[in-house]
Amino acid sequence: ENIYVGVDLGGTAIKVGICNEEGHLLQKYEGPTETAKGVDTVIDNIEKYVRHIVEESPYSWDKLAGVGAGFAGFTNIREGIIILAPNVGFKDVPIRALLEERLGKPVKIDNDANVAALGEAWSGAGRGVENCVCYTLGTGVGGGIIVNGKIYQGFGGMAGELGHISVVPDLEAIQCGCGEMGCLETVSSATGIIRMAKDAVERGDRTSLAHVENIAAKEVFDAAKAGDEVAIRIVNRAAYYLGKSMAAVAAVLNPEAFIIGGGVSNAGDILFNEVRTVFAKLTPEPLQRGVRIVPAELGNDAGVVGAAGLHLRS
Ligand code: BGC
Ligand code: NA
Ligand code: ZN
Repeated sequence: ENIYVGVDLGGTAIKVGICNEEGHLLQKYEGPTETAKGVDTVIDNIEKYVRHIVEESPYSWDKLAGVGAGFAGFTNIREGIIILAPNVGFKDVPIRALLEERLGKPVKIDNDANVAALGEAWSGAGRGVENCVCYTLGTGVGGGIIVNGKIYQGFGGMAGELGHISVVPDLEAIQCGCGEMGCLETVSSATGIIRMAKDAVERGDRTSLAHVENIAAKEVFDAAKAGDEVAIRIVNRAAYYLGKSMAAVAAVLNPEAFIIGGGVSNAGDILFNEVRTVFAKLTPEPLQRGVRIVPAELGNDAGVVGAAGLHLRS
């Protein structure tokens, strides 16, 4: 049987995993990205970790039928170029050609969240679902659209950038890393939640968070669960705009399921209940029928599984 290696390139770590043709993750490994050392080092590291995981496995290099990789940023999959990935310092990097040359194997690339969506559709929360939409709520907000079991790519191969839907009204909007104003990512990412918490503390709002030294998104969720009103307001705001974006997406795509992953989704019910409430309020009833809003199942593995799946499922 052939194997496929999936690569999930993040700002701090590169995860690699071996999958079989059924989408089962057989082995995984991770090492530092070393973003600060520049693009060449990052590419060296990808090569090193891919070779390493296969060497450590019971499979020979010959069995490796292809390598897939997901990147957090605007990715032109047709040309195999990472156009802009601010958190790994990539700009116009022809990553597919570079990796094919080094590895001597077919390489496919895609956006990190598209790949995570494919992973969930293949062997996670979206198993058996033909049409679903995935959000990843982490440092940024990523999105992936699965149509008829495959990633929907769009014109430039950049469809599914759900974090950059502008949802916040102009007067409350702040600028996003993409340059635009009021993107979903500015309020529903971990970064956005932390920023809102720090703003509240600085304003002198009465909150238990004022005593927290380094506020992380988890602290905000914990405080909200403990009844802290400021924290509840922040969580509801993150949930509101997420639900609002989902209502828009439902009107466009009528997906069967919305799958929500990434670190922020670990907040659980306190987030999901509010998202479901907002979605129910803002979506026409026929477009809600049978539609599920569920947590992702593969956790941190969705990226490597989906990346390996690029060769089989796209
Ligand atoms: C980027 C997306 C990425 C997401 C999650 C966003 O800021 O624009 O391409 O999928 O973060 O990593
Ligand atoms: Na995407
Ligand atoms: Zn944006």
